[in-house]
Amino acid sequence: MRIGMLTSGGDCQSLNATMRGVAKSLYKMFDDLEIIGFEDGYKGLIYADYHVMKPSDFSGILTEGGTILGTSRQPFKLMRVPDDNGLDKVEAMKHTYKKLKLECLVVLGGNGSQKTANLLREEGLNIVSLPKTIDNDLWGTDMTFGFQSAVNVATNAIDCIHTTAASHGRVFIVEVMGHKVGWLTLHAGIAGGADIILLPEIPYDINVVVDALRERSRQGKRFSILAVAEGAISKEDASLTKKELKEKKKTGVVYPSVAYELGARIEEMTGQEVRVTVPGHMQRGGEPCPYDRVLSTRLGAEAALLIKNKEYGYMVSVDNNDITKVPLEEVAGKLKTVDPSCSMIREAKMVGICFGDE
Ligand code: F6P
Repeated sequence: MRIGMLTSGGDCQSLNATMRGVAKSLYKMFDDLEIIGFEDGYKGLIYADYHVMKPSDFSGILTEGGTILGTSRQPFKLMRVPDDNGLDKVEAMKHTYKKLKLECLVVLGGNGSQKTANLLREEGLNIVSLPKTIDNDLWGTDMTFGFQSAVNVATNAIDCIHTTAASHGRVFIVEVMGHKVGWLTLHAGIAGGADIILLPEIPYDINVVVDALRERSRQGKRFSILAVAEGAISKEDASLTKKELKEKKKTGVVYPSVAYELGARIEEMTGQEVRVTVPGHMQRGGEPCPYDRVLSTRLGAEAALLIKNKEYGYMVSVDNNDITKVPLEEVAGKLKTVDPSCSMIREAKMVGICFGDE
């Protein structure tokens, strides 16, 4: 039996551990198994860039970050646009799949990649997918692999900032990844003891943020730490239409990111010294944490079971610490965002963390 495998979208720490989980389980189930590894995500499937993988390829990679297959971003909207040779990319992927006589394709990916996986399912391909992303924003699963490792890195960054912020008596903003959602910032912010956490799901009022900083100063606190999601947005900006926001950005000062803009406003309004730190892609780098190694192994094994049972068209997922499956059509195109009224936000507020809204 021959199956294809690819890793797609932004990388994360536990991709290799997940592929290992799938492969080791499959090799135990099938004597005649051949795994075809597509290079650099869907690109490899489009352009038939692949190699036959050996069982030894999956040994010793549990703790290795990145992906041994390489990855790339394939914006969903471009998939139907013909490439330079006039070839429809979806047709090209189907062609490669059929030419190689694959029994199924295993896709490790985040939002865009799941959408493409669902498109290929609709086109008749057998697909099993696994939930990858440091953003934890995939619909249909409590947890994605990569997330907890990224929480570790972002928390570590906030920990490091704490000591220097305390020494200098400064306000520090740590900008955390997460794309359009705040899961990573919420978890790392709480774990790192941030005083203020700003999330895309809770547009902030700059006056509330500044009041919280002034209150800390009044209490004799020499420094403050803000964990700010890269997608955080002020109440003013949230009330604008997309077009108005675009216009505003054209006319105003251009900042490298939301954290810098916020930092400038805080400095202007409080006169306090502000520094901005952006850990950036470090959050996706390095080795997977133990939680992710366990999660990846479990997800991988259950994905193999779906293949054994010929249950295609699903993403393996986490539901209350059990590994289960969710139909790809339910996952595709939906975001799992932080609910501002969830108990985690309430609990964080109870210990004094300010979210910029009250
Ligand atoms: O989706 C993972 C992620 O790291 C997001 O948190 C971030 O917004 C984005 O990818 C960065 O993308 P790129 O790797 O294309 O810079």
